[in-house]
Order: sequence, then C-alpha cells, then structure tokens
Amino acid sequence: PVKVQKIVCIGAGYVGGPTCAVIAQKCPEIIVTIVDLNEARINAWNDEQYRLPIYEPGLVEVVRSCRGKNLFFSTDVDKGIQEADLIFVSVNTPTKKSGVGAGFAADLNYVELATRRIAAVATSNKIVVEKSTVPCRTAESMRTILEANAKPNCRFDILSNPEFLAEGTAIKDLHNPDRVLIGSLQTPEGLAACQSLSDVYAHWVSRDQILTVGLWSSELSKLAANAMLAQRISSINALSAICEATGANIDEVANAVGYDSRIGPKFLKASVGFGGSCFQKDILNLVYLSESLHLPEVAAYWRQVVEMNEHQKSRFAKRVVDSLFNTITNKRITVLGFAFKADTGDTRESAAISLIRDFLKEKANVNLYDPQVEEHQIWQDLAEASPNLSLETIKKQVNICSSSLEACKDAEAIVIATEWKEFKEIDWETVYQGMNKPAFVFDGRLLVDEDKLTKIGFKVVTIGRGSL
Ligand code: NAD
Ligand code: UDX
Repeated sequence: PVKVQKIVCIGAGYVGGPTCAVIAQKCPEIIVTIVDLNEARINAWNDEQYRLPIYEPGLVEVVRSCRGKNLFFSTDVDKGIQEADLIFVSVNTPTKKSGVGAGFAADLNYVELATRRIAAVATSNKIVVEKSTVPCRTAESMRTILEANAKPNCRFDILSNPEFLAEGTAIKDLHNPDRVLIGSLQTPEGLAACQSLSDVYAHWVSRDQILTVGLWSSELSKLAANAMLAQRISSINALSAICEATGANIDEVANAVGYDSRIGPKFLKASVGFGGSCFQKDILNLVYLSESLHLPEVAAYWRQVVEMNEHQKSRFAKRVVDSLFNTITNKRITVLGFAFKADTGDTRESAAISLIRDFLKEKANVNLYDPQVEEHQIWQDLAEASPNLSLETIKKQVNICSSSLEACKDAEAIVIATEWKEFKEIDWETVYQGMNKPAFVFDGRLLVDEDKLTKIGFKVVTIGRGSL
C-alpha cells in the first residue's frame, strides 16, 4: 500500500474542514491541504484572529495547533490535486431543486465537477475518497469519469469513507469516533488503497473500530445510519402527540422504553422536529433510490419518517396559535434559538425556520434571538421560506435581538426552538415581569423546569406533555 504523505480535501465546509483539520492534528508527518472554490470561506479559515467560517466547540484549538505547520487552506484546487496522493471529495450534495428527481434525489453536480477536475489535472496516481454522502453506486460513476479523462499512466483507486460526525460535537466525534467506515473494491488494488487510508486513521483510532467493507455497502451504510437515527426521532415525536392527547409524559415514556438494552437511551428526545443538512436530504435520497429500484413500498416506508417530521413542526406551531386563544395576529412571539440544534451556527432545515414562517402567516410579530447564527443568514432563510413575502415585510414583522432578555420583553409568548444551554439559565423572574399576561412558554425542546416556571406564573406548554 502507498504510504500517504500528502492529502488534499476538496470542500472546506462543515465536514471537510473539521475532518481534515483533525487528520492534520493527529498525523503531523502528513501535509494536509483543504481547498475550496469559495474564496471568502478559505479566507475565514486563514483568518489571523481565528474567526473561522463555522462554529464548532474545540475547532479553533485544533486549527491553531497545526495551521501553517502541516495544515493549509487554499483556493488553488488544481495545485492541491496535483501534489496529493490521497484526495477527499467533501463537497456538498444537496437535494435536487429541479429536473429528474427534484425534491428527492441528491444533486451530484458538485461531486461530478470535482471528479472531472481531478481527472483533468492529475499527473500521478491518486486514491480518491468519497467523503460526501452520496447515493449507492456513485463510486462507479466517479470511476467512469476518472478513467475516461485520465492522463496516460495515472491510476485512480476509489474509496468510500462516509463521515458520521454530528455538528456541535464534531471535534469530539472525530477524536473519538464510534467507528470509521471504509469501502473499497475487493481487488488487490482496492484493498491496498483501503489499507493506506486505514493507516491514516490508525494514528488515533483503534484498528478494531476501522471497519472495511465493499464500496456499495459503505455508501449505503451512511444513508442507512441517518435514516435509522431520524426514524427514532420521528417515532418518539409520533408518541409525543399521543402523550399530549392522553396526559402521558414523553420523557417518562422515552426513559422507560430506552431502559431496554435492545433499544438504548440515546437519541430519544422528543422535539419540535429534527433539522440539519443531513437527515431529510439523506432519507429523501434513500426514498429516491428505492423508487428507482422499483421498490415503492420501501420508498413509502422511509418517506413517512420525513412526513412525520413535517407534521411535528406544523403541529407545534398550531399548538402555539390554539393556546393563545386561536389568534396571534399582531401579538409579539419570542422565538429563542434559530440554529437546528445547540452548539452550532448552522440553520439548514432548522425547525425554527418553519415555525417563524407559520407565525408570519398568522401576522404575528416575532422577536428572535440566537447566540450564534448571523443576521444575514436569518434574513436569507426567512425570505426563502416565505417567497410570497418581501424581505421588507419580513423585516417589519421580525426583530432580531441581541439577548434573551431583550427578545422576551413585552411578548405574549416565548417559543423555545433550539436547546441552547443559556436558555436553561435565563432569569425567568425578570422575564416574567416584562411580559404581557398571561405569559406563555412553549418548550419545543423539553428544556425548562416546568414546575419552577409555573410557580413564577407562566403558562407552560411542553412538547409531549398533556395538560390533563
Ligand atoms: P458544505 O456546503 O458546508 O461544504 C461544501 C463545500 O464544498 C463548500 O464550501 C463548497 O464551496 C465546496 N465545493 C463545492 N464544489 C466544489 C468544487 N468543485 N471544488 C472545490 N470546492 C467545492 O457541506 P458539508 O456540510 O460540509 O457537507 C459535505 C458533504 O458531507 C455532504 O455530502 C453532506 O451530506 C456530507 N455530510 C455532512 C455532515 C454535516 O454534519 N454537515 C455530516 C456527514 C456528512
Ligand atoms: C446527523 C447524524 O447524527 C450524524 O451522524 C451525521 O453524520 C450527520 O447527520 P447532525 O444533523 O449534525 O448529525 O446532528 P444530530 O445531533 O443528529 O441532530 C439532528 C437533528 O435531530 C437536530 O435538529 C436535533 O435537535 C434533532 N434531535 C436529535 C432530536 O430532535 N432528538 C434527538 O434525540 C436527537
């Protein structure tokens, strides 16, 4: 097997950035270059004050420890490709917005462009690693493109190495992964390439946690893992609706169910709905794959996980309106949190976006506060979610605040959309004094102490808890 000395990662996003920064940190003898066409993003990765383009706990420390030594960020994609012996393709694969498979299939345009670039500029053998999440058998398409366009005497070995990190805990997950998965062709060359990549991870991951499998299993395992994780959340959220209607308590139910060692306690937290760039996209991708394979029942099964999530989001928004005496027109609603989960500034598919869209439809005024999300991102997301409203109208109805206290002032209701730790520590007495009465708190994250808030005087409505 080739001993990897130089790595390039194409795509300096939420996955490429943290993943390859950790590889650089753990493998000081390997030169790692992360390249991207987006110059602003690369500049931010190179920022002298370490104002990096993404927020992840612990990321600055990792970048600080190796940037300029064996970790580099650059817009020179071609040079990166030419110098590397191993190339991670870590570009975005969003859901297609138009054409065949629109709304379901993954848009593989970025993967294809990156692959074509590799073929066009490579002058020596390369190990090409799919890091992006892709449909099963994408490696085959990559191989065809690479082989059809390669220079003579250049050989490419293709591996699948999906990433399982979760945002907000990316560095922890990368330092201490449950497993690393590498898929390769089961040929001598494929197995040798697999060995080369295993040796990189073996710098800090024990060999028995590095799983080596066939290419197609590896590609499918990533979609399968996300589908099964999201399915757990939709299952618990479906039960939360039954709890609200019966007086059962979803925390108690989740705890009782999770005690079964076959089920396990993790990932059973009812919520206002899952968000993030992966779950919905990857399930829809699986749905599309199933349909393409003429498996309509399988497709319908997985599609229901996404439909239940949509239902959960709209059900929660409706509960807010119902509780506020069936109208929120001209009322001030405070939304706490805009990121799709705590400890990230990422808003992709965040439940807060759907909630605010629904509140705007009811002509409410919204005060919004999130500790990490940038203002321009909020306006962009809200405008996209309500294409029938002008940005001017949205800005009249939505007020972005710089603290929880400011956001809660003069409101009729507070809606907790993201489980930021600081929302647990809010001075609720002061908040209560400043609100219109009756003062409502809608807890979409099972975050606050319901008894404590009720004693202060709040009317607390919690996901998965009935008022019977
Ligand atoms: P991202 O949008 O944050 O980053 C992708 C980057 O690739 C962008 O900066 C873009 O400019 C760059 N890019 C696109 N085409 C390029 C090209 N031809 N040459 C150079 N740069 C190019 O996306 P992400 O969240 O990092 O996700 C990347 C992939 O990883 C996706 O397939 C996603 O499904 C998968 N994934 C994401 C997560 C996550 O938590 N975000 C977790 C696991 C897997
Ligand atoms: C997910 C997968 O966890 C990760 O393995 C994969 O690589 C990328 O997709 P991510 O989307 O970053 O990671 O975060 P995750 O922690 O999975 O949360 C996704 C969404 O589900 C968030 O909106 C979160 O709030 C929600 N969630 C999670 C729940 O509502 N309940 C839970 O019990 C867990």
